Amino acid sequence: MIISSSHDYRTAAKRRLPPFLFHYLDGGAYSEHTLRRNVEDIADVALRQRVLNDMSQLSLETPLFDETLSMPVALSPVGLAGMYARRGEVQAARAAARKGVPFTLSTVSVCPIEEVAPAIDRPMWFQLYVLKDRGFMRNALERAKAAGVTTLVFTVDMPVPGARYRDAHSGMSGPNAAARRMLQAMAHPGWAWDVGIKGKPHDLGNISAYRGHPTGLEDYIGWLGKNFDPSICWKDLEWIREFWDGPMVIKGILDPADARDAVAFGADGIVVSNHGGRQLDGTPSTARALPAIAEAVQGEIKVIADSGVRSGLDVVRMLALGADCVMLGRSYIYALASGGEAGVYNLLDLIEKEMRVAMVLTGASSVSQIDTDLLVGASTLG
Ligand code: FNR
Repeated sequence: MIISSSHDYRTAAKRRLPPFLFHYLDGGAYSEHTLRRNVEDIADVALRQRVLNDMSQLSLETPLFDETLSMPVALSPVGLAGMYARRGEVQAARAAARKGVPFTLSTVSVCPIEEVAPAIDRPMWFQLYVLKDRGFMRNALERAKAAGVTTLVFTVDMPVPGARYRDAHSGMSGPNAAARRMLQAMAHPGWAWDVGIKGKPHDLGNISAYRGHPTGLEDYIGWLGKNFDPSICWKDLEWIREFWDGPMVIKGILDPADARDAVAFGADGIVVSNHGGRQLDGTPSTARALPAIAEAVQGEIKVIADSGVRSGLDVVRMLALGADCVMLGRSYIYALASGGEAGVYNLLDLIEKEMRVAMVLTGASSVSQIDTDLLVGASTLG
């Protein structure tokens, strides 16, 4: 099939994946209102078309923490990415590194930190959840440090897992879920062989390395369910700070007051995110939340944004709303599921081309020129 956009990758992934995995990726919480608003509100951001400025020289280079990114884009942490392609995290990380942008490894990846970090020639980012098992957290931080991880992304919007109806219907969660999931996977032509799980569940890298024995999907879900920690508060972040001296980014900020607290805490950046509409259905979209947060932060720390970004044009829109960098979640996993490393690389190429077109037509020749001046007044979304 012809692939010309991330939408095409979604279609290709839907054809290829067992339904429970496609819906685990594609779905959101409750009635998926926030999931839809994320995409629709970005599409509603209108940009001023500006012409007749010599736009033959464009620069997408973006300084971020101690790195220079080839463009203001990074890959979001996505749990179980290795279920979407064989050694999926390694494939996605390689594509991102070749393209000159950061890859973020999830706490709950299939491939462990020690496998992914050495597979690429640029620094990796690592995402940590707040878990009751503080020993696991500390151990994960030490392993990340030893593997040369630069930036820690600390996700705070999962003190409890969101309710995702699609997962209950697809067999991803609920009674006897694991058995049903595996049967579906085995029955799905081609897929089980390609990800290397014919007949046995995957090894869950970061978790199994800690627990000292291989774990399967069922273990993973049980372990996670018991370990999300609703008691998390700012003092837990101080505890993390003791173990991490590199850049620390707090992911899951959606309110200007929390953004100010992140500045006061001494975070190096925040990710404005509603977890891709997978947690609290009914929150504002990130496009709607972003302008007030960027204003509250006043450039004191870096503002990264995700949730709903599907194109390079969307990246430019999020930058115009106040982001310094934009993260991609589902869109790169659709590409990974249907095209592996080459698919993720091609998606990033498409994103870059779409960004270039949007920059030429808005008269912004560098990333620092993409700001609220590019917005048609009403499109700041209030
Ligand atoms: C996620 N996300 C996520 N976030 C995180 O901090 N740790 C994780 O392990 C995961 N796992 C995860 C799995 C799946 C299947 C999805 C779709 C998302 C959230 C992710 O990092 C990001 O915030 C959203 O995906 C962004 O929204 P879009 O780009 O998918 O719309």
